Amino acid sequence: MTGDDPLEESESGESTTAEPRTDGGAAGADDVALDPWGSSSVSDYRKLFEEFGIEEFDEVLEEVPNPHYLMRRGVIFGHRDYRPVAEALQNDEPAAVLSGFMPTGDPHIGHKLVFDEIIWHQQQGADAYGLIADLEANSARGMSWEEIDEHARDYLLSLLALGFDPEEGELYRQSENRELQDLAFELGADANFSEFQAIYGFDGETDVSHMQSVVTQMADILYPQLEEPKPTVIPVGPDQDPHVRLARDLAERMRFFKVTEAYASFELEDEERALVAAFYERLEPEAFDDDTLRCVHVAEALEETPLSELDVDASVLDSVLTKLEEGGMEPLRPRTRFFDRRATEEAFDALVETIDGEKRVYESHVDAFELDRGEAEELAREIEVDNGGYGFRPPSSIYHRFMTGLTGGKMSSSIPASHISLLDDPEDGYDKVKAASTGGRETAEEHREKGGKADECPVYELYAYLLAGDDDEFAKRVYDECTSGERLCGDCKEQAAQLMREFLEEHQEKREEVEDLLAETDIELESPRRR
Ligand code: TRP
Repeated sequence: MTGDDPLEESESGESTTAEPRTDGGAAGADDVALDPWGSSSVSDYRKLFEEFGIEEFDEVLEEVPNPHYLMRRGVIFGHRDYRPVAEALQNDEPAAVLSGFMPTGDPHIGHKLVFDEIIWHQQQGADAYGLIADLEANSARGMSWEEIDEHARDYLLSLLALGFDPEEGELYRQSENRELQDLAFELGADANFSEFQAIYGFDGETDVSHMQSVVTQMADILYPQLEEPKPTVIPVGPDQDPHVRLARDLAERMRFFKVTEAYASFELEDEERALVAAFYERLEPEAFDDDTLRCVHVAEALEETPLSELDVDASVLDSVLTKLEEGGMEPLRPRTRFFDRRATEEAFDALVETIDGEKRVYESHVDAFELDRGEAEELAREIEVDNGGYGFRPPSSIYHRFMTGLTGGKMSSSIPASHISLLDDPEDGYDKVKAASTGGRETAEEHREKGGKADECPVYELYAYLLAGDDDEFAKRVYDECTSGERLCGDCKEQAAQLMREFLEEHQEKREEVEDLLAETDIELESPRRR
C-alpha cells in the first residue's frame, strides 16, 4: 500500500497484512481447500499465503501504474508472479489479460470484479480476452446448450457495458475456438490422470469430458501467448488457483530448453549451488596451483568449515561433497546451462550456433561461459520461437476476495437474496440492500458508543467493492463514520440502496446500448449444439 493511500490509517481488525485496511475482511465460514468446482468461499486468506504460496498483492502494488481501486483497497489481495505484468504495463511492452466465465446463471456483482479487472488491464494497454467456458459449463455443471447460450449473452453484454473494447480485445467461446482446442489437445499430451487425481481429486468415476474441460482451461490460459510469448495475467477467485498452478507447470513443460546455472560439468540442486557459489566467491584462485580453483579445493574448504556455519542440512553438504570429490581436478567455473528438454535437432543446433563467446557442447546440454542467466533465458525463448515452439512464459494470476452474501454467509448464485444480479430490477436491488444484514450493534445507543463493525459488514463491503467506485475518500469516510459510531445502519443502508439502484439502472441502460456492439463481434451467440 502506498504511503498516501487514504485508506491506510483506518482501524480494521484482522487483516492478513501488517497494515490495517478497510476492505471489509468478512468472508464466509468454510474450509480452505481450493476446489474449482466446490463452494467458493475462503475463511482464512492467510492460509492461502502459507499453504499455497500465493503472494500478497501489497508487495507488488507499488510497481503497478495507476492501480485500480480494487488493488488499492486490498480486494485484490494476492497474486502469483504478477511482477512481469506490472513491469510490461509500466514500460508499454506487450502484455495480456484473460479470464473466463462459466455461463451457469446470471452475472452478478461478484463477476463484476473480474469484468473490471479485465477492462482495467485493457485500458492499461494489455491485450484483453474474455471467454465463455461453455464446454466446462456443459461437462462440469450439466448445463444445456440452450441455457448456456442465454447466460453467455448476458455475461458478454455486461462485460461490454462495463467498458470492454471488442475492437482491441477478443471474445470467444470454448466450443467454437478451433485453435484453442488444438492447443488443449497438445497440452493434454503432457498431463496425465494421476496428476488430475492429485490436483482435483478426480477418480475413476470422473467423466472424460470434465477432464477435457480442464485441458481446455489450460489452453485458455495460454491462448494469449499463441502469437507471441508475453506476460499474461489471469484475474480469478482463489478457487481457480489449482488451474493456475497446473497451467504454469504445463507452460514450463512445453519449453524446448531449461536454463540453469552450473559450476562444473555436473548438476547441482539449488541449495547445493548456493553453497558452491558462496565458496567460489570466497576462495582466491591465486591460492592454488596454476591459479586455478578446482572442485577438490572447494571440497576441502567445505570439509574444514563447521556445519553450523554453513546454514544447510547435513544431507545437502554430503551430497555436494560427493559431487565435488567426483569432479576432482575439474576447474570450477560459473556458467549458464541450456538443457535440451524437447528441442528439435535444428533448434539445438541453432542454439549452439547463436551462443556468443566460449561454450561447451554436450550430448543434451550446452554450457555458455559468457552469458548471464537473463540473457540466456531470452536467447532460449527466441530460438524456441524461431524454431516452431511456443516459448510460453508462465502465466501470472491475481486473486480477489469473495464477496460476503448480503444475508451473511457466502454470496451464492443459487441464493437470490444473497447476491445482486446485474440483471436484477433496480428496485429489487434497492430492496435487497435494505434487507441486508450489517455489522451494526444491537441498539443505536450501543452503536454510537462502540461504533459499527465495518469489517464484518456486507453493506460496507458493497461500498468498498462497488458503490464507492474510484472514490477512496468516500469509501474511507463511510468506514470512519461507521466505526466511530456516527453513521447508523438505517441511513447507511438507505444510501447504499440508492446507489445500488442507480448503478443497476445505469448498467442496464448501457447493456441495451451495447447490443449492437455485441452483434458486431465475431463471437457465436448461438451454439449449433442442442443435445
Ligand atoms: N473455470 C472457470 C470458472 O469456474 C472458468 C474458466 C474457464 C476460466 N477458462 C478459464 C477462468 C480461463 C480463468 C481463465 O468460472
